[in-house]
Amino acid sequence: MRAADFPGNLVDMAEPLSGLARCPVVVAPMAGGPSTTGLVVAASAAGALAFLAAGYRTAAVLLSASASPPAVPLHELLRDVAAVTGLPLIAAGAIMSRQDVRDVLAAGAVAVQCGTAFLRCPESGAQPLHKAALADPAFTGTAVTRAFTGRPARGLVNRFMLDHPDAPAAYPEVHFATRPLRAAAAAAGDTGRINLWAGEGYRAATERPAAEIVELLSGGPASG
Ligand SMILES: Cc1cc2nc3c(=O)[nH]c(=O)nc-3n(C[C@H](O)[C@H](O)[C@H](O)COP(=O)(O)O)c2cc1C
Repeated sequence: MRAADFPGNLVDMAEPLSGLARCPVVVAPMAGGPSTTGLVVAASAAGALAFLAAGYRTAAVLLSASASPPAVPLHELLRDVAAVTGLPLIAAGAIMSRQDVRDVLAAGAVAVQCGTAFLRCPESGAQPLHKAALADPAFTGTAVTRAFTGRPARGLVNRFMLDHPDAPAAYPEVHFATRPLRAAAAAAGDTGRINLWAGEGYRAATERPAAEIVELLSGGPASG
């Protein structure tokens, strides 16, 4: 199937991608732009090397119906994308354990991208307040919000997110408007009013060194 077989914006998408054939490009639509089979077809046609399939594990918690782009469960996404391309697929979204890695490899991925699994490790650049919140049982889940920056991102549900469920899609204006508030809250140690970005698997994030986490995920020495 060719990108040109798709109507409307998918054809528009193929045009700017067409110059990339000789470049080592991995297409990685993330929080602000969901993975779609249309995008992978356009990227394949343009010569991309691989595609990052970023999906979710459990139904997304939305603080407002308009606050998130459409997204599909990771395994469904891998299946749909594999059906329209031979590109190597990199799976992302709540991959926290060796079993999670095994599951997505079995579903057709050749590699994984992990973010949250490394958030608490000593080498992570996350602020101490953020790292502590990830382990704080007072936080009971994540949700997708636009409250901090004006574009959708997933974080631990806190007071600021609950107070602003209908934040507009206005990046970077919202980001700049909230920045001083977030800085003041961080200085005061107030985790109710700072962005605490986190993936769905945050409860499994540990303080282990990054090398050990890689070994655990890949089935290396530390996993035994
Ligand atoms: C602290 C943090 C910051 C992130 N920032 C971005 C971002 O700016 N843009 C984006 O598309 N995704 C962002 N993400 C999503 C990561 O790319 C995502 O974590 C990755 O797909 C793996 O999912 P996982 O965190 O569930 O392992 C961020 C994630 C975290 C934990």
